[in-house]
Amino acid sequence: MPDTRKPIVIVGSITMDLVTRTPRIPAIGQTLIGTGFETTPGGKGANQAVAAARLGYRVAMVGKVGDDTYGPMLLENLKRAGVEIAGMRQTAGSSGLAPMFVADDGQNAIVVVPGANGKMDRAAVDNHAELIRSAGIVLCQLEIPMDTLSYALDFCARVQVPVMLDPAPAADLPEAVWRQVAWFTPNETEAAHYAGDGMSAENTAKHLHQKGLRGVALKRGAEGAYVSVAGGRADWVKPFKVDAVDTVAAGDCFNGAFAVALQEGKDPWAAARFANAASAMCVTRKGAQASMPLRAEVEEFLAKQS
Ligand code: RIB
Repeated sequence: MPDTRKPIVIVGSITMDLVTRTPRIPAIGQTLIGTGFETTPGGKGANQAVAAARLGYRVAMVGKVGDDTYGPMLLENLKRAGVEIAGMRQTAGSSGLAPMFVADDGQNAIVVVPGANGKMDRAAVDNHAELIRSAGIVLCQLEIPMDTLSYALDFCARVQVPVMLDPAPAADLPEAVWRQVAWFTPNETEAAHYAGDGMSAENTAKHLHQKGLRGVALKRGAEGAYVSVAGGRADWVKPFKVDAVDTVAAGDCFNGAFAVALQEGKDPWAAARFANAASAMCVTRKGAQASMPLRAEVEEFLAKQS
């Protein structure tokens, strides 16, 4: 039977992660002996797509890969996870690449080389306008050109489709964004960029609401999440304690799971609890898309917690 639910649509990036495993992140000028190397599918947009699809929700992605060897591998991985790829296009040149270090304590340092993601243009939005219009929610990040992001947000505002924006990597945003986004989900570093350094989660959320944002979910890693709705409830959502081996894409996992739970009708704090559980599982595994848990795994994990 065809899935008639309104899909979660991702308009965003897809990248091949080039992961060097190392005892620690090297200092400038230092040479270390690494412990491993992998190429593994990533990119904030595709990671969020795979996270939501593995949780059993209907997901479609609008994005671009290159005509290099990585392009077909990236598309195949999306398909295998259950993501609809009719909105994906192959373009001349390299796919997005993300060389990164992942240290033994799970921390990481990443450089993103846009490749095909940098070729996401207004036409990519126009060409898939019907798909985007049909979405229950659209998920965006900041690894495609800002002009394309603005164009997509304008379109979503016009057709009244809510948007969850993961404002990562941190960048200067056009003023209109603050009023166009239903959910804004920075991590701690990004929140400092958008609201100011050294602020509590409570004050950060207040500051972001003053800019015009309605829903704010602050991702605080081992501290959990702080979820706040303008003029309404604001509360911490506790983390789950796990032994992290790789924190890459934990924030993406949160966004994918948060979107799924909101679409399924959970209130934002219950949705964040579900998302905290999914991202707790994600950090116990290596890789970006490879570390996204299945629905049954998250439910089993949650059942054990209570
Ligand atoms: O959020 C994690 C992702 O950021 C990685 O998969 C890498 O591709 C970068 O885009």
